[in-house]
Amino acid sequence: MNASDKVALVTGGARRIGAEIVRQLHAAEYRVVIHCNGSASDAELLKEQLNHSRADSADVIAHNLAETSHLSDLIEFTIKSFGQLDCLVNNASVFFPTSLEALTESELDQVMGVNLTAPLLLSQAAARVMTSGCIINIIDIYAEKPLKGYLAYSISKAGLHMLTRGLALELAPNIRVNGVSPGPILWPEDAAEMSEEEKHQRLAGLPLGKIGNPSDIAKAVVFLGEAEFITGQVLSVDGGQSVV
Ligand SMILES: NC(=O)c1ccc[n+]([C@@H]2O[C@H](COP(=O)([O-])OP(=O)(O)OC[C@H]3O[C@@H](n4cnc5c(N)ncnc54)[C@H](OP(=O)(O)O)[C@@H]3O)[C@@H](O)[C@H]2O)c1
Repeated sequence: MNASDKVALVTGGARRIGAEIVRQLHAAEYRVVIHCNGSASDAELLKEQLNHSRADSADVIAHNLAETSHLSDLIEFTIKSFGQLDCLVNNASVFFPTSLEALTESELDQVMGVNLTAPLLLSQAAARVMTSGCIINIIDIYAEKPLKGYLAYSISKAGLHMLTRGLALELAPNIRVNGVSPGPILWPEDAAEMSEEEKHQRLAGLPLGKIGNPSDIAKAVVFLGEAEFITGQVLSVDGGQSVV
């Protein structure tokens, strides 16, 4: 199969890291389904740009992943649009502070729903239609070392890490399942009030001494997409932060 025959579905693909993953998979000749939630206009713009560079190579679906009852709709949409699915990238995520004291049940449901239940149910639905290919989960280095004040997020990503390894066993030998764990790549959008000094402090001690770039994550995804003898692995792309 030529790469150009392949189809990728990227959740949260309209903006930031997800959009770069979409662009690089498309540049690697995949046809792409861009999933979004609130960023429909960004997703449509990206679709337009990609279809302009290669006709009929991109489509968009909007869906709130916190509503986990109809997730197979995304897979069905992909098959309807392009006839197959070869690579599912579970990138969408919610990230907000949840201290133990203040954590509410609905916050927990939201974080676990988007960051863990949705990737699991999407993978389940994908596995029903995929005869080969791969699933790639975008995790976080805080899956292994908790981020203070972000208990629910850390738990959800730890679950996604185990899901990656567990699915690799469940879905072998036909479907490979791997993860990419980013370190600091883009500041959260609500970090506008974070001072330059605070950002500088957060990066202090990072072995490579600089924040990463969305393309660092996207390159790792493209690599894992083609890595035919790798499954059950999680690649940290983090400037060395996980070894500190
Ligand atoms: N940024 C970093 O430095 C960093 C560091 C470590 C790990 N990561 C991981 O890398 C991935 C991408 O990071 P990012 O910073 O680009 O992510 P982000 O901007 O925080 O979120 C990515 C997308 O997730 C989608 N999303 C959120 N809630 C959703 C919901 N209820 N239903 C459907 N989609 C939903 C949003 O789509 P819409 O915009 O369409 O609503 C959003 O654009 C995430 O998995 C993140 O945990 C990032």
